[in-house]
Amino acid sequence: MVYYRKFQVKEVACLEFQGVRWNGRAALAPMAGVADKAFREICVKFGAGYTVTEMVSAKGLCMQDRKSRELLELSAAEHPAAAQIFGDDPVFMAKAAEKCLSFSPDVIDINMGCPAPKIAGNGGGCALMRQPELAQQIVAAVCRAVPIPVSVKMRVGWDAEHVNCVELAKRCEQAGAAMLTVHGRTKMQMYAPPVLPEPIAAVRRAVKIPVAANGEVTDGVSAAKLMEQTGCEAVMVGRGSLGRPWVFRQIEAYLADGTVLPEPPAQERMAVMLEHIERTCSYKGQKVAMLEARKHAAWYMKGIRGAAALRREICELKTLDELRAIAEKAIEAANAE
Ligand SMILES: Cc1cc2nc3c(=O)[nH]c(=O)nc-3n(C[C@H](O)[C@H](O)[C@H](O)COP(=O)(O)O)c2cc1C
Repeated sequence: MVYYRKFQVKEVACLEFQGVRWNGRAALAPMAGVADKAFREICVKFGAGYTVTEMVSAKGLCMQDRKSRELLELSAAEHPAAAQIFGDDPVFMAKAAEKCLSFSPDVIDINMGCPAPKIAGNGGGCALMRQPELAQQIVAAVCRAVPIPVSVKMRVGWDAEHVNCVELAKRCEQAGAAMLTVHGRTKMQMYAPPVLPEPIAAVRRAVKIPVAANGEVTDGVSAAKLMEQTGCEAVMVGRGSLGRPWVFRQIEAYLADGTVLPEPPAQERMAVMLEHIERTCSYKGQKVAMLEARKHAAWYMKGIRGAAALRREICELKTLDELRAIAEKAIEAANAE
């Protein structure tokens, strides 16, 4: 144990399982519609030790859906990385996992946490937490189908009366899972507070495989706190990275020796934003990239003094040059205050 300011955290440099070694202790969480290849690359540049693709439908992938295949593309820079699949049928899930292999992921991750009606309403994502036997069959089938490690990302349970992550975690481990991530909320909570560290800690105590804790990590202090509360070796960061990919650098600095790195100045933030969106343009073309850039730009502007006035321009963004002009204005506004 090491003492980071107020917190006691296990002294391991990174998470390791079945030959996969993270490059640190903070991973970027999978986020559909947000954490695409361009964003993941930027996060890795800022120290994300591991990444996971946006979730991909097992059935879609088996039916050769082009969009599903695009979601699985990894860049050379982002290894180790997991390809995440969702579904409720062991046969399709196993077949989909096999298909993922052509994209060279290091791990196959199974989504058992998504609460969205489109996913959970069709038996996949968090709905699998209500069917632990089926969930176990899926993990076993996927493990049999691929020669790489298989992980599971789950919530603590369906609702406050059904917090069954320990049972599910044990079943996953028994079926061959190599690592787990537990998001400390029930399905019914969706994304509302509070994050429940105790069920994550109970999972950590119940299984031998590594467990990453997830939920409301936004900086080094919150990462260390969740690691202490849960006994987990690592964390996954979702929304805390949006518009702030440097959060991984902040977490690693804090875990190394308690250093609290400040938020970068406006000029650096805008430079990172432009690099991120330029990469998105090169992967998806300007038209699609600029639609997606609207939400990312708003996140990058958050906290820059005076940048709120640029919101309307961001909502109407159409070209990279317009984004560059907005970035200039944001820097001017920050410097003027
Ligand atoms: C926009 C968005 C998309 C998400 N997509 C996925 C996904 O594809 N697969 C998954 O397992 N979790 C997904 N999640 C859940 C996150 O991975 C994470 O568990 C959740 O946001 C809690 O972590 P946080 O408090 O750090 O954001 C998504 C979350 C958000 C906000």
